[in-house]
Amino acid sequence: MRERFRVSGGASLRGQVRVVGAKNSALKLMAGTLLAVGRTRLTNVPNIVDVTIMAELLRRLGCDVDWRPEDGVVEIGVPERIGHRADYELVRALRASICVLGPLIARVGEADVAVPGGDAIGSRGLDLHAEGLEALGAKVHVAHGYLIAAAPQGLHGASVHLEFPSVGATENVLMASVLATGHTRIENAAREPEIADIAEFLVSMGAHVSGAGTSTIEIDGVDALHATEYHVVPDRIAAGSWAFAAATTRGDVEVVGGRAEHLEISLDLLAGAGSTVTVTPDGFRVVGPQGRPCSVDVATLPYPGFPTDLQPFALTYNAVADGSAMITENLFEARFRTVQELARLGADARIDGHHVMVHGVPLLSGAPVEASDIRAGAALVVAGLVADGVTTVSGAHHVDRGYDRFERQLQGLGADVVREPDDDLYG
Ligand code: UD1
Repeated sequence: MRERFRVSGGASLRGQVRVVGAKNSALKLMAGTLLAVGRTRLTNVPNIVDVTIMAELLRRLGCDVDWRPEDGVVEIGVPERIGHRADYELVRALRASICVLGPLIARVGEADVAVPGGDAIGSRGLDLHAEGLEALGAKVHVAHGYLIAAAPQGLHGASVHLEFPSVGATENVLMASVLATGHTRIENAAREPEIADIAEFLVSMGAHVSGAGTSTIEIDGVDALHATEYHVVPDRIAAGSWAFAAATTRGDVEVVGGRAEHLEISLDLLAGAGSTVTVTPDGFRVVGPQGRPCSVDVATLPYPGFPTDLQPFALTYNAVADGSAMITENLFEARFRTVQELARLGADARIDGHHVMVHGVPLLSGAPVEASDIRAGAALVVAGLVADGVTTVSGAHHVDRGYDRFERQLQGLGADVVREPDDDLYG
């Protein structure tokens, strides 16, 4: 059944909200468990649909997966013999499934992974994934909608220079190289905290990895890894969403578990535009300004730049800010679907190529809107909070892919948001 969020405008978010492990790390760590025979236990895993899909994918590869969403624990028993095919049916529901490619080629010597669909945010190539694995000795081609990789002789260390610091390509090359013979050096690697988290996880399994979190990662391959227990890094994107939501609604929110050092640019922007940001013993706190927040220009870039995943929240923020702002999207070309929905709420925003010009208005005007992906959906719910009257955000399932019971967290902060059936005529 389709569901939507029903948001009554007018609330300032106040109180504490807790962030748990990062979706974008947890999914990769789950894939990474394939690298070692035995039972690996992950804690601080977010209770989101994507984790359930990844659990199913691992089961189909032959693993015994015990996923306890209420405890945030997933235990994955990896047998000696595992499959090597990730079907389209699962990959289309979870584009992050492509991260099984590196672990499978390293462990089994072959991998057939359906070419992913997933979030509707621009075309996302896999060329860098393929080039990186080829440098390690794999043969990679695409046929019948599958990316097929094989390394019958095993993988060998190599120098891999990524043309662009792709998060997914860095992860696949990193996870493939830990079992390759000899030394691998990944240059122009992505520097996201989730990459450092994966590296730390691999080291806890016995891998030799250094430099993760910088643009050069060095790996010395080992013959085998062992099962481990690991606590997932907190979700900086969820934490950043709450920071923007607090500033946008002129609220006062402590993000418990949030790491300010992973959100430096975002929090500096908010602080420079009238919010008060403080680091607390358990996380950080954002207190919005008394009056309308000031507008802020934003340009998305690979980490440590402004995260593309927070761009929809920057749009919502600027839609009600005092002044005009330019939002530039440098990572994904079609990631402006929020704009047309915000316009339905009365925002004054115009797309020009990969820029959006936003002129802030004092208040949005509640209306039915549609979520196109996880972050867009959550940002539209926040927009509903600063809109007059009622806003409904259809496509709640998108938001469930990234946020653990979003409406309950918002209710805990004093917002009037409920989930309800979406009686869309054609849905
Ligand atoms: C990851 C995150 C996503 C985030 C993104 C950028 C997960 C599950 N998803 O996605 O939430 O928005 O990082 O921070 O972790 N590209 C190529 N060829 C390639 C690979 C990428 O051209 O082989 C391009 C893509 O089309 C895109 C850009 O590089 O324009 C960024 O992609 P990448 O950094 O790989 O992001 P993802 O790993 O897909």
